[in-house]
Amino acid sequence: MPVTPSPLRYPGGKAALYELTAQLLRENGLNKRTYAEPFAGGAGLALRLLFEGLARRIALNDLDPGIYSFWNSVLKEPDRFIDKMKSTPITMDEWLWQREVHRTQKTPSFELGFATFFMNRTNRSGVVKGGVIGGLNQAGAYKLDCRFNVEDLASKIVRIGRYRNDIELHCQDAEAFLSEIDSRERVVFFIDPPYYLKGSGLYTNFYVPADHQRLASTISQLRNPWILTYDNTPEITDLYPNHIRHTFDLNYSVGVKRVGTELMVTSSEFEQFSSPRLRREPAPEALPDCTAV
Ligand SMILES: C[S@@+](CC[C@H](N)C(=O)[O-])C[C@H]1O[C@@H](n2cnc3c(N)ncnc32)[C@H](O)[C@@H]1O
Repeated sequence: MPVTPSPLRYPGGKAALYELTAQLLRENGLNKRTYAEPFAGGAGLALRLLFEGLARRIALNDLDPGIYSFWNSVLKEPDRFIDKMKSTPITMDEWLWQREVHRTQKTPSFELGFATFFMNRTNRSGVVKGGVIGGLNQAGAYKLDCRFNVEDLASKIVRIGRYRNDIELHCQDAEAFLSEIDSRERVVFFIDPPYYLKGSGLYTNFYVPADHQRLASTISQLRNPWILTYDNTPEITDLYPNHIRHTFDLNYSVGVKRVGTELMVTSSEFEQFSSPRLRREPAPEALPDCTAV
């Protein structure tokens, strides 16, 4: 099994949390549900859970029209997508053209989906704003095609295509998606919002502080169990004072490779769960009782 079954590269992607999430789902009897991600991005974790039988089906959502178009094209027209990939030269001229398509098309389409994929595979760390691998004059040690293994990518797309009846796709704001899917029974959410501190540079859509706050209130009202991951900052910790909080280490590959500490917050169903990978954070100090003399 490759590290991620996703054809997309995503900084901070959660495919690396497969073992931990599989354990969380299995030990809590939540492994036969619809597994739903409101911020799907590369969806590497969701796909692997589906392929390994830990989710009955997966519901993916992403508001970015490019990301949505990519998944929609791969799910609806996998053969066409593979043909397009195989017949497209990986050159600077093509990069400039795909960048133009990505910049100018604002509504979902096959062309936008392919342009998003092309930029993701040829840009530094897969980031739209990262610039082309090797630089515009291709003078770097690595060239723009170094992450574009066509055969490997085609086999990932074929595999996803085989599971398309078990994958549903949405292009909504995350909160609308959460509310809609939460009206169903037997769902489990994995919520990986844009980072609080680094979000704006990494993805096309990003949150401002008020969005994180509103999201926290929507999440707190969910009926179905949920797992939330974030960057570990006091601003986020403060939004989830009454929930179970853990920290864990994750490898990033934006710029220099490094290990960062992230936060995992969970609903009460996961109260008893423990793993060597997770460090339980103490509950916040009880507020002083102002009425005491
Ligand atoms: C942190 S990334 C998710 C990474 C993903 N968990 C993975 O492993 O690849 C955040 C994603 O949320 C999407 N996004 C940002 N704001 C959104 C919103 N308001 N509603 C839905 N999706 C949003 C972005 O387009 C981006 O793909």
